[in-house]
Amino acid sequence: MPKVPRFLDLPGHGGLPPVEELAIGLMATPASIAPKFFYDALGSRLFDAITELPEYYLTRAEAEILASSGDEIAAALPRGAVFVDLGAGNCRKAVGLFDRVEPCCYVAVDISLGHLRRALDAVQLEYPALDLWGVGMDFSGAFLWPEGLEVPAGRPRLLFYPGSSLGNFTPEGALKFLRDVHRACGGAPGSGLLIGVDLEKDAATLEAAYDDPLGVTAAFNRNVLHCVNRSLGADFAIEDWRHVAFYDPVQHRIEMHLEAVRPVEVTWPGGRRAFAAGERIHTENSYKWSVPRFEELLAAAGFAGSCVWTDAGARFALAWAPV
Ligand code: AVI
Repeated sequence: MPKVPRFLDLPGHGGLPPVEELAIGLMATPASIAPKFFYDALGSRLFDAITELPEYYLTRAEAEILASSGDEIAAALPRGAVFVDLGAGNCRKAVGLFDRVEPCCYVAVDISLGHLRRALDAVQLEYPALDLWGVGMDFSGAFLWPEGLEVPAGRPRLLFYPGSSLGNFTPEGALKFLRDVHRACGGAPGSGLLIGVDLEKDAATLEAAYDDPLGVTAAFNRNVLHCVNRSLGADFAIEDWRHVAFYDPVQHRIEMHLEAVRPVEVTWPGGRRAFAAGERIHTENSYKWSVPRFEELLAAAGFAGSCVWTDAGARFALAWAPV
């Protein structure tokens, strides 16, 4: 019998139902929408387009590290591990490592199971003998080892969290998440986390990466209002909102907001909110790390050490943190 991917649709841990979370965020001062709501089908495509923009260096810098230091990185990673890909998306980054790390099975975790189904069918065609799992799970509140996953016991676990998605957590949230990941790595020798983070740099480079002249990031940001209209039954008019992105060097973060271009009233079943012209909805933080601050964070989360590689321009870092 040819192998086929298996799937688990699991509830998130520690989070509110999306409708409640959205309504609470919209009623807060300042209003906010969590970044996980960006990723409907169009939002995921817009994000893929962002990664191809000349200004959005992150994806290329990470690929450069894997190309230039791939042998060294692979030598640090366990062979034959249970490979768990957090925020797997189209799974291509993980698949790029398969021939080097020869996983015993691959577990792709993402908020959208629909996206994973298509991606894993393609992976199975390339690796017909590999056991594949797709897990639909919102791990932005907490990450627990997925219940119901059938993977070989006693194997090392290789957790993979590339792309600087950790930057979308506050530093406190990042520490809590990394502690969860450390626990999920289990105790088998060789287990650990391979993780990418974006590094601090000049504000102009960072701001161009999050406010590109083609307006792709603006479209990605404004599309979240379509997502909210659909999920919450709200009546946001997209043309009433403009994209704002800036770097805060004190908090080491890019902030993204949507700013009302005129006085606006938004309603949804059971709620309404008036926004003054110029009032903002905070949609995303993207924290930038230095290598020493990031290594301290990994140690505080319980990892035994870290080995860090950067691209030639020291724009981005990939770290291997063994348990
Ligand atoms: C997914 N995450 C790492 C991206 C980032 O860079 O924070 C999301 C993004 N937002 C605007 N551009 C890209």
